[in-house]
Amino acid sequence: MHELKKGIYWVGGIDWNIRNFHGYATENGTTYNAYLIVDEKIALIDTVKSTVSSQLISRIKRIIDPSRINYIVSNHAEMDHSGSISDILEFCPQATVITSKAGQKSLQRHFKKEWNFQVVKTGESISLGKNTLSFVNTPMVHWPDSMVTYLPEEKILFSNDAFGQHLASPEHFDDEIGWTCVRKYAAKYYANIVTPFGKQVNKALAALSDLEIEMVCPSHGVIWRSYVSRIIAEYAKWANHDTQNKAVIVYDTMWNSTEKLAFSLEMGLENAGIRCSVRNLKQNHISDIMTDILDAKMILLGSPTLNNGLLPTMGQFLTYLKGLKPDGRLGFAFGSYGWRGQAVKEMEAMMEEFKWEQPLKGINVEYVPDESDLSEAVKTGEKLGSMLL
Ligand code: FEO
Repeated sequence: MHELKKGIYWVGGIDWNIRNFHGYATENGTTYNAYLIVDEKIALIDTVKSTVSSQLISRIKRIIDPSRINYIVSNHAEMDHSGSISDILEFCPQATVITSKAGQKSLQRHFKKEWNFQVVKTGESISLGKNTLSFVNTPMVHWPDSMVTYLPEEKILFSNDAFGQHLASPEHFDDEIGWTCVRKYAAKYYANIVTPFGKQVNKALAALSDLEIEMVCPSHGVIWRSYVSRIIAEYAKWANHDTQNKAVIVYDTMWNSTEKLAFSLEMGLENAGIRCSVRNLKQNHISDIMTDILDAKMILLGSPTLNNGLLPTMGQFLTYLKGLKPDGRLGFAFGSYGWRGQAVKEMEAMMEEFKWEQPLKGINVEYVPDESDLSEAVKTGEKLGSMLL
């Protein structure tokens, strides 16, 4: 039994084996966190993905008879959090489903059920007895319906997707994992789920800034109790697309020509004193590359030309990047070709669409780069590096 504070319990589900969460590589699985507040009235904050519904029900049954639940708060209708509402309502059909206006619509569209809904909005609250559920709408963090629930008496924020991490572990708290590790998972989560919504994150942070928060209970991963102010500060940086003088080289290669250019550019950037990651798209999952990109100022993209265009791995990556919209980066394209060299132009056009500044024209080498081409690529890396400093 995981009692966080008196009468407040973690009752979620652990998905140890999931390795792909709608395209995001979850190398250590994830959790779907739900929380039970036992007071004069009993509230369940969010549910879990339907595949681990039995875990939720077992954990609730260890604490109370689930027929006693009065409220089910649905902070967000995505099915990793709403997927077990029907299962819970079988025990407590009288319970009220508390959600935002958009949440009600979304739940109805997903489940085609007319549950006993109560729509809430920012500033509204519901008393459970000693504790109060207080609601703040946080649209687009992560869907239009998203909201968070605050418990002022205990200074707990039930933040749903915000501040989450895809990490399955027997530990439940940030300090049991350590800042470096939990920050890494939180950064990957932000990079792959929240990046497009920086403006909305800023609005949500502003709306929460007056609250005293001692504990943040997200809907994925461990609970924040020791690093609350640190993770809020990180969110503020990420939301503003604050970057460091770092470079990420993302490339794929057919006959190693583009790879030779990638390593020469890396040498040049290193000579200029720039920290640089080099990620081959065949060996690195795009969701891990996004974590590198989260706080990197310069992105170098490399692809040879295949069939008059990009290698499909680069096409896939650019599609992913386009959706996530990291702003304010410096871009550079490079590649190799046999007879026509459209790949570099396509990458440059895409970066133009992203509104990334491209301080230098790309490198495009016919067939195999020679010593002179590679030496030029090192010099280009040095120039790019000097522009970052
Ligand atoms: Fe964890 Fe947007 O659902």
